[in-house]
Amino acid sequence: MKKRILVLFLGISINLIAQQGGMWLPSQLEGAREQEMKKLGSNLSAAMIYAIDKPSLKDAIVHFNGGCTAEVISKKGLLLTNHHCGYGAIQSHSTTEHDYLQDGFWAYKQKEELANPNMYVTFIKRIDDVTTQVLNGTSDENAPKINKNIISENIKKIVEKTKKETWQKAKIKPFYKGNQYFLFITETYEDIRLVGAPPSSIGKFGADTDNWMWPRHSGDFSLFRIYADKNNRPAKYNKKNKPYKPVHYLPVSTDGVAENDFTLVFGFPGRTNEYLPAVALDQIVYKLNPAKIAIRDKALKIVDKHMRSNKEIKIKYASKFASIANYWKKWIGENQGIKKSKAIAKKQDLENIFAKKVAGTSAEKLLPKFKILYQEIEEVALARDIWIETVYRNVELLNTAFRLYQLERSAQKGADDFTKQRDKLLKQLKGFYKNYDANVDKEVFTELVALYFKTNPKKYTPKAIINTNVAKLTEKIYSKSALTSYDKMEKLLQGDMQNVLDKLAKDVAYPFGKEVSKIFYESINPDYFVIQDKIANTQKKYMKALMEQFPKERFFPDANSTLRVTFGQVKGYEPKDAVYYRPVSHLKGIVEKYIPNDYEFDVSQKLLDLYKTKDFGSYGENGKLPVNFLGTNHTTGGNSGSPVIDANGNLIGLNFDRVWEGTMSDLNYDAEICRNIMVDIRYILFVIDKYAEAKRLIKEMDLVQPKTGD
Ligand code: ARG
Ligand code: ASP
Repeated sequence: MKKRILVLFLGISINLIAQQGGMWLPSQLEGAREQEMKKLGSNLSAAMIYAIDKPSLKDAIVHFNGGCTAEVISKKGLLLTNHHCGYGAIQSHSTTEHDYLQDGFWAYKQKEELANPNMYVTFIKRIDDVTTQVLNGTSDENAPKINKNIISENIKKIVEKTKKETWQKAKIKPFYKGNQYFLFITETYEDIRLVGAPPSSIGKFGADTDNWMWPRHSGDFSLFRIYADKNNRPAKYNKKNKPYKPVHYLPVSTDGVAENDFTLVFGFPGRTNEYLPAVALDQIVYKLNPAKIAIRDKALKIVDKHMRSNKEIKIKYASKFASIANYWKKWIGENQGIKKSKAIAKKQDLENIFAKKVAGTSAEKLLPKFKILYQEIEEVALARDIWIETVYRNVELLNTAFRLYQLERSAQKGADDFTKQRDKLLKQLKGFYKNYDANVDKEVFTELVALYFKTNPKKYTPKAIINTNVAKLTEKIYSKSALTSYDKMEKLLQGDMQNVLDKLAKDVAYPFGKEVSKIFYESINPDYFVIQDKIANTQKKYMKALMEQFPKERFFPDANSTLRVTFGQVKGYEPKDAVYYRPVSHLKGIVEKYIPNDYEFDVSQKLLDLYKTKDFGSYGENGKLPVNFLGTNHTTGGNSGSPVIDANGNLIGLNFDRVWEGTMSDLNYDAEICRNIMVDIRYILFVIDKYAEAKRLIKEMDLVQPKTGD
């Protein structure tokens, strides 16, 4: 009887803590993770994935420009990443005469590869556990603030003392909510050149309508190359630099994928939050996400309307629209997924078991404390999100006002500082106004400012503007304010410091913008972080207690933009009752979705011709050309561009997205429904070889030919 109860007890806990998924540090795979991978069909040892004394897979992976992931795929430093990761670079080389976003770009010779000032990629050379040194001198008895200071002092000292080459850097990051710390030795290359990109009709096929969705048919890839100095070391751009010779590069397999095949995704996931208490999840789903979605709903409708009726506005707002639409759509899917999977109730069940286990210990206070803290933070967290979405993200004029307010603050440091900031701001504004349309922004302002007064907590709405007549103010601002055009702004910012400040104070928009900016600095952010620090401290203790109470469970560290391994299998899923989604899509589906001249679903004649003649070369399979596929790998933003590696260490795909029903995976990974979306490497090779005819690029890769006879 006693035994049965125990089994039942464990049985409950096992279901409540993820049995699959997780983003693991590559230096921590030996043992349990290695075994799990073997069971899923992998032939890789932990040392083949990560080693410091000999080449391993990790030597082919880079953090791409601080946000995405890319991988080295040839002995000449050729890099593969997503089209949406190279988007800014591709756009910056485009003009009306040669629009590389629309038509694609291919360097048919090495000397045609295009330099990208400010672009960089970072390799991870070594990862060390430095927990003991970092936490040395801290204690649970100390006030959190004291511990925080000790930790940052320790980190500084360890980084200083770490042995490394002159061109390397060391950085330390917290894991498991600050219960562990790891040090990373990195190498950053800064001469990165654009090598190839398909047209948007391939690289962004389906655009926002298909974004976060399956079935998908996107060739979301682009190619770059790392250049190094004559010693193969990092160097600023120089015509004389040479293609980088990698420690390791990924062989490319054209063997293809089938359901249940092992897949490993290696990259730099940005941020997840899997161990929040139920009260926090509840707040995100019922308070914060709905507020953010409502604001973006309004902004997107207005921008979309203008983009559809005016070609110039379409170009100006394409990239801004895509980035606002991206997370708007994600949050909607996230909320639906959390409700459908009953994630909050599951967390409560886990917390009930936890509470019983820790009754009578110091950990028994943690869950009640969370309850109080999340209640305390709710109002200011909501105000903060509303502020970010309204002032910072969506009303462009208010964002400009916010930057001007930061400039005004720099005046406190003296005229020299002010002038420096002013010049910097002018430069930024020049770029900003290129893609600005005051008529679009005026409509967004009217709607969002009205919504702000309706929904923003009164405590965090500036008293001086609370009785604003929004319609009147809008008319005044958009007919008279200098903030609506670059020429007027340039004039306003001329002159000495006092002169500029006087002109600013007289502008019809700035005083309003100043009030909303001031309250952010003076009350929203300070109030928020007082409570947020306490939450972080409680979360750290909760994480530790969870791991102690459930020692046999698999806890993975939340993503924090460090190098991680996630693994799984190729698999379809059931989005709803009686519907099964198969895991591989084909070129046929592109033709099915084709809408001539549509900005999301147009297809180029060349691709249609290749489809008609079925000229798939060795990339097709039974007369069909695979395009995208699904897997159970646990990924998040930042994993875009990550390689998909097979059981033997070969490249078989390129990660770029997740499915709608599973976007909740950042807060609640559920293997039933969470899937990542990848481009089949054979579609990428087909586009390079048959569509672009850039044969020299195919030639420099190591293609692992399909096994014959199966
Ligand atoms: N949803 C993917 C990610 O989060 C792709 C975004 C880019 N594509 C787009 N249509 N906006 O980044
Ligand atoms: N599309 C995301 C990225 O850009 C990946 C994801 O969120 O699944 O990193």
